[in-house]
Amino acid sequence: MSQRLSLAVQSGDFAIPETGRIAVFFPREGHDLSALPLGQVEIIQPMKPDHDVWAARGYSCVPEAGTGARFEASVVFIPRAKRLARHLLAQAVAITDGPVLVDGAKTDGIDSLLKELKARTVPTAAVSKAHGKAFCIDGGLDLSDWLAEPQSVAAEFVTAPGVFSADGIDPASEQLAASLPAKLGSTVADLGAGWGYLSAQILTRAGVSELHLVEADHDALTCAQRNVGDPRAEFHWADARSWGSKASLDTVVMNPPFHSGRAAEPALGQAFIANAARLLKPSGQLWMVANRHLPYETSLAEAFVAVEEAGGDNRFKILHASRPRRGR
Ligand SMILES: C[S@@+](CC[C@H](N)C(=O)[O-])C[C@H]1O[C@@H](n2cnc3c(N)ncnc32)[C@H](O)[C@@H]1O
Repeated sequence: MSQRLSLAVQSGDFAIPETGRIAVFFPREGHDLSALPLGQVEIIQPMKPDHDVWAARGYSCVPEAGTGARFEASVVFIPRAKRLARHLLAQAVAITDGPVLVDGAKTDGIDSLLKELKARTVPTAAVSKAHGKAFCIDGGLDLSDWLAEPQSVAAEFVTAPGVFSADGIDPASEQLAASLPAKLGSTVADLGAGWGYLSAQILTRAGVSELHLVEADHDALTCAQRNVGDPRAEFHWADARSWGSKASLDTVVMNPPFHSGRAAEPALGQAFIANAARLLKPSGQLWMVANRHLPYETSLAEAFVAVEEAGGDNRFKILHASRPRRGR
């Protein structure tokens, strides 16, 4: 990814404090943090796979900005979701005593954010490179009206800015929930559980004694903990491609993610399928929903003895697979 941060440091626009902590919001795997002294950096990254990459590189990492923490400087890598971008900026300026560097791609809305900020303060001249911009604003600026409150969905649920399907129930998950059989067995996992809609429906099925909600986005999982207040639910902040359960499961239910950036990435869902097969008992069942155009059938046939399309419409397909193959 671009070196806008390094350029802003070299030009003197972003002055790195000699001591004190620097908060870095939402860096992704390819971001270049080499201009920052590793020992001063605290990374705030709620997505587990990205969080683990930075932790493995030796950085101090947390999933969310702690209350009461203060920083001498901050860097905010702007996410695409506008409400979340504004929320992070409001958080960053509130906990930072020095400069806040804002970095983002044009496709993630950095230009409109800069325009909105110019109406409220005087940002430094922007470094423009690699289809994006970086500029600084002062910590302490009051952006409290950009802090996003949890949002109510369908009266009984709450969501947070930036989580999957924050504005309402996902129609694909709704179709999958309606297609689930009356009995799912005793031990079940929801891979990529999001803010918990599907899990709440799973818990209405008879006989479920244990439901594992596995979700990479810490913000979504925090919502799920509020939305699924049931003692049978266990919450795991984990990568569903590699998460392991203590004992084999009767059923996996999932609406897997199909992109991590802008482009479709069916490999993500394919890795979910492979892990679902590993997690299940020999008699285990997988129920999933996918956009109709996504190529999951080959992965399903490689991982399961029996695969059928169990419903859907012109947008989605409900897939049911049983009897995971062993020794793959
Ligand atoms: C299509 S959404 C489904 C969410 C939820 N089940 C629902 O029905 O609303 C997929 C979810 O997978 C999560 N996710 C993405 N990558 C993941 C990973 N590697 N491990 C676990 N969850 C992941 C996303 O954050 C998102 O919440």
